[in-house]
Amino acid sequence: CGIVGIVGREFYLEQLMKGLKKLEYRGYDSSGVAYVENGELIIRKAVGRIAALEEKLGKENKNKIPIGIAHTRWATHGIPSDVNAHPHIDCSGKLAVVHNGIIENHTELKARLQRKGHVFKSDTDTEVIAHLIEEHFNGSLLDAVRHALVDLEGAYAIAVVHVDVPDRIVAARKGSPLVVGANGDGAYLASDVTPLLHYIRDVYFIEDGDVALLSAGEVKIFRTDGTRVSRPLTHINWTEDAAEKGGYPHFMLKEIFEEPQVIRNAITGRVKNGKTIIAELESIADKLKTTRNVQVVACGTSYHAGLVFKRFLEEYAALNVEIDVASEFRYRKIKFDEDTIVVAISQSGETADTLEGIRIAKARGATIIAVTNVVGSTISRESHAVVYLNAGPEIGVAATKTYVSQLTVLLLIASYIAQLRGFGDKKLMQIVNEIEGMPTIFESILATSNDLTRELAKEYFDYIHFMYIGRGYGYPSALEGALKLKEISYIHASAYQAGELKHGPIALLDRKFPVFAIVPDDSLKTKTLSNIMETRARDAKVVAICTEGDQAVARIVNSRIEVPKVSEPLYPLVMSPYLQLFAYHVAVMRGHDPDKPRNLAKSVTVE
Ligand code: G6P
Repeated sequence: CGIVGIVGREFYLEQLMKGLKKLEYRGYDSSGVAYVENGELIIRKAVGRIAALEEKLGKENKNKIPIGIAHTRWATHGIPSDVNAHPHIDCSGKLAVVHNGIIENHTELKARLQRKGHVFKSDTDTEVIAHLIEEHFNGSLLDAVRHALVDLEGAYAIAVVHVDVPDRIVAARKGSPLVVGANGDGAYLASDVTPLLHYIRDVYFIEDGDVALLSAGEVKIFRTDGTRVSRPLTHINWTEDAAEKGGYPHFMLKEIFEEPQVIRNAITGRVKNGKTIIAELESIADKLKTTRNVQVVACGTSYHAGLVFKRFLEEYAALNVEIDVASEFRYRKIKFDEDTIVVAISQSGETADTLEGIRIAKARGATIIAVTNVVGSTISRESHAVVYLNAGPEIGVAATKTYVSQLTVLLLIASYIAQLRGFGDKKLMQIVNEIEGMPTIFESILATSNDLTRELAKEYFDYIHFMYIGRGYGYPSALEGALKLKEISYIHASAYQAGELKHGPIALLDRKFPVFAIVPDDSLKTKTLSNIMETRARDAKVVAICTEGDQAVARIVNSRIEVPKVSEPLYPLVMSPYLQLFAYHVAVMRGHDPDKPRNLAKSVTVE
């Protein structure tokens, strides 16, 4: 979910709505606003996209509002409906709350409040917050919120307004992101910085247990016990334009085309003469030199980037690396010691499972490295060292440019660790030099790949199944290619290690079930070629992504995409834009909006 709020003298409802739209990527099954007008609390809600709410508001959009909060929802408790949409109000109808997160003890709180006479209207966990604050309200909204928070278990970022204090918003966080800031005109809050950039560049990332009091031109931050605290101001360089579509029909396409620049940003200051320098890791260099235990934790696309990292680190730094998806990792009974390094990969830096995973590992003594794109994100703040992607905001829900950026940064981190451990040989230097040349390679890839993949998509967009196969470094690419296709085109796509086909998946194949083979000219190519032959023998059509001029592949497949020849560990990088663009074109041809796939959210801040 996403929350946004504004308080000041000269604001209009449409400004609040504009801010809310910047957060639509965080969830969009319903939305709502609360604002105060002539001493009355007005609530408006709509199911579906934010555009539906805007339409409902009509002329009201032009209303001048001294104060307002808004929410875009990604349902966790209760189906998407008007009643369950935020804001939620108390019994008096004077107080409204928007909330991102989950209140874990809402059932018992609700029962307790009902015994006291509170009447609930929705199925949401959020409504208990409104009633709980009402219980404590005695003229001071700040105090009421502070006292209510004591009883809340779970994760939240909330914003609260009350008609009796029409010049203040109280906001608080624990476990869900919240950014606040102020200028001469007003004060602003949001789940991320994008809605704020129109007004301010210096913001506060408030911390777990903080409560912020926003009034025209001012933000004051307190702890739940009432003590005032100061938090550092962070300057944000992103332009507002950087978060807009820049002339492309979709953010996803725009973001894929940013990949050359994104790689440049990832490399900047980190590579020199075939050597990698990761300044952010220098403070833990001694640990990296001696550790025998590396654990990677991530979800979704970030997990796929992690698989490449694992393989590279094993090959080039002679390290054993374990990798887990975070939702499994957090429930495993693994023993750590001070020797263990945990690498948490999270584009958003807010994924709840990954966050919990690092908290557990940290408590057991491990050293945490975060690899993330979001400065000030919770994961970045809770880790011992942070390496940023510097990829700029990614709006498309399906990760594209951040995946490419993760691969680049992770390969550099792995090279740095290999160097530290005395493995900085010629082969490694050659790879690092190749990474330095990647922005140029990507520019030439993107010059032709869009048309090429569109043509290919025309041939395949009508199938209802797809099987991606690959070996070695090709397997993460198969997983990522399948994930991209299924999440935005809703075609069932699965990925297998090519060698596993014969143990089951091959039974699925026939002429209606095409195969997407990842078959670079690497040390496992001949094995994959045999697997492709097996699929052809079952009548499956095969699309291959292979190395330029590879006749052995050309002879046995139906269609192919050729990528430039690179060192083996770099194929996942150069193959990414093709796999992403293929999924993009298929989705568009099937009539779907690739930026906002159904049922998915960009940042999953609940378990
Ligand atoms: C969500 C997104 C995915 C992303 C995953 C992990 O499911 O839709 O695109 O890969 O979360 O997100 P993170 O921010 O931790 O990389």
